[in-house]
Amino acid sequence: SDQSAFETDVWTLTRFVIETGRQAKGATGELTQLINAMLTAIKAISSAVRKAGLAHLQGLAGAVNVTGDDVKKLDVLSNDLVINMLQASYSTCCMVSEENKELIITPKEKRGKYVVCFDPLDGSSNIDCLASIGTIFAIYKRVSLKGEPTEKDALQQGNNIVCAGYALYGSATLVALSTGAGLNFFTLDPPIGEFILTERNVKIKPKGKIYSLNEGYAKYFHPSINEYLKHKKYPEDGSSPYGARYVGSMVSDIHRTIAYGGIFMYPANEKSPKGKLRLLYECNPIAFIIEQAGGLATTGTQRILDVQPESLHQRVPFVVGSPDDINEYLSFVKKFS
Ligand code: AHG
Ligand code: MN
Ligand code: MN
Ligand code: MN
Repeated sequence: SDQSAFETDVWTLTRFVIETGRQAKGATGELTQLINAMLTAIKAISSAVRKAGLAHLQGLAGAVNVTGDDVKKLDVLSNDLVINMLQASYSTCCMVSEENKELIITPKEKRGKYVVCFDPLDGSSNIDCLASIGTIFAIYKRVSLKGEPTEKDALQQGNNIVCAGYALYGSATLVALSTGAGLNFFTLDPPIGEFILTERNVKIKPKGKIYSLNEGYAKYFHPSINEYLKHKKYPEDGSSPYGARYVGSMVSDIHRTIAYGGIFMYPANEKSPKGKLRLLYECNPIAFIIEQAGGLATTGTQRILDVQPESLHQRVPFVVGSPDDINEYLSFVKKFS
């Protein structure tokens, strides 16, 4: 049995969001409703992920999405859960999902003032081998003042993010959340179905010892990437080589990078000249979160949050992590460009 004393004043994520919401000027409680709706979807996805093998939820759904990914059954289920829970919260005017080509416009009678860009299931190539997967989201205020929401409401710089987070369905289910005042981790306690505050004001190490990227594309990388990697493997300055870790689920690789320090890269390559990761629902939310933890997030030539989006599913090269590691990488970009 669990020997730890039973907490009677526990900080749940719900309580944390209410507390934060009340401190926000002109708080209407709408953001609190929205975040709690996202948490409900995440709890349901967590449950589905953990019974996927039993409930025949593994494998392909038989479609290809707008960015050319094979859609898995869990991608569809997770997508439907997020859309339904968020629209039912009366707090969104429109949404962008990896699994929907067009802007998802909230029915008129259910509209609120927020825009949500989300990746309902990140790392879906890892579902059938039981490796960790996740969900990613970023919340903005709508910019159109009246009438129908448009793509312009979603094509905002990451600098405008009001709240961003990810869920990691790993050995435990964890939510990382920031509303711009630091980064906090919450771990799901399944018997009570609540996310409990487990790490407050998380900060990334200034420098790590791990690099993380898919080296299978080395043949197609820009020289600055391979020169940087060579320096990590055969350091000339007598320092120790870095370790290599790559799960292939970005949320899992990012969570390890925040927890242990280091650098995560999905660079451009000859086959994908802008890389693979999508700006609106993968790079911007993670860049916001990493910066809240004191890290850096760059395309290699520009801060991610400064990129002005032009299309809903556009890709950007993505290099994030400990500030000293990112600056060292940028010195190689300068040297070899
Ligand atoms: P998604 O499953 O949402 O399409 O995202 C998968 C992404 C990301 O999670 C991961 O970092 C990357 O794809 C892995 O790509 P490679 O298999 O090309 O390394
Ligand atoms: Mn995909
Ligand atoms: Mn993804
Ligand atoms: Mn996805």
